Amino acid sequence: MPKMLNLMVCCAENRVMGRENRLPWRIPEDLKFFHEQTAAKTIVLGRICYQTWPRAREDGRRLVVITSDSALARDGVRVARSVPEALAAAEDLPGEIYVNGGERIFAEVLALDRPMRLHLTLVHAEVPGDRYFPEWRHLAWREVSRRESSDANYRYTFFTLER
Ligand SMILES: NC(=O)c1ccc[n+]([C@@H]2O[C@H](COP(=O)([O-])OP(=O)(O)OC[C@H]3O[C@@H](n4cnc5c(N)ncnc54)[C@H](OP(=O)(O)O)[C@@H]3O)[C@@H](O)[C@H]2O)c1
Repeated sequence: MPKMLNLMVCCAENRVMGRENRLPWRIPEDLKFFHEQTAAKTIVLGRICYQTWPRAREDGRRLVVITSDSALARDGVRVARSVPEALAAAEDLPGEIYVNGGERIFAEVLALDRPMRLHLTLVHAEVPGDRYFPEWRHLAWREVSRRESSDANYRYTFFTLER
């Protein structure tokens, strides 16, 4: 039985999640949640997400980076050339699997027919950007939890959804 896949994303109402290789916002509460939730987990992520996340290798995370650049492999960082290869590698590593994007990786994983949990921070705003979380609202999710919050700039809701 393959492990449950966790997907973790923070996106706006218009599904924007990135701009110019960065997050389009700074939401400290979400960043804290993201770092706590992914600590000591096996993380599957794309090359740009890896290269733009300075703390990725901290806090006991085991990384599987999807890239054609095998030179990125090092202690605690495995390299895979595709989503299926990355998920197979992650299955062999200890602990829960978290898929952290980017765009193509989320799309491929959401299309899989296997149990998954979506940790979604939905930012209640329309935000300009160039990377989008794939449409997820039409899929048959069961809502496990939701918590609303806000800061000086945004209102947002932390959802946990399963299917
Ligand atoms: N708000 C959020 O929660 C969130 C989450 C994730 C990402 N983001 C944002 O999204 C942006 C980064 O994501 P991104 O989509 O641009 O890049 P990405 O997926 O992190 O990296 C793209 C690279 O990863 C490899 N890759 C990705 N998908 C692949 C696939 N299906 N098969 C084989 N290789 C694959 C390729 O590497 P090579 O070129 O090395 O072969 C590709 O050039 C940033 O703006 C980031 O802030 C936001």
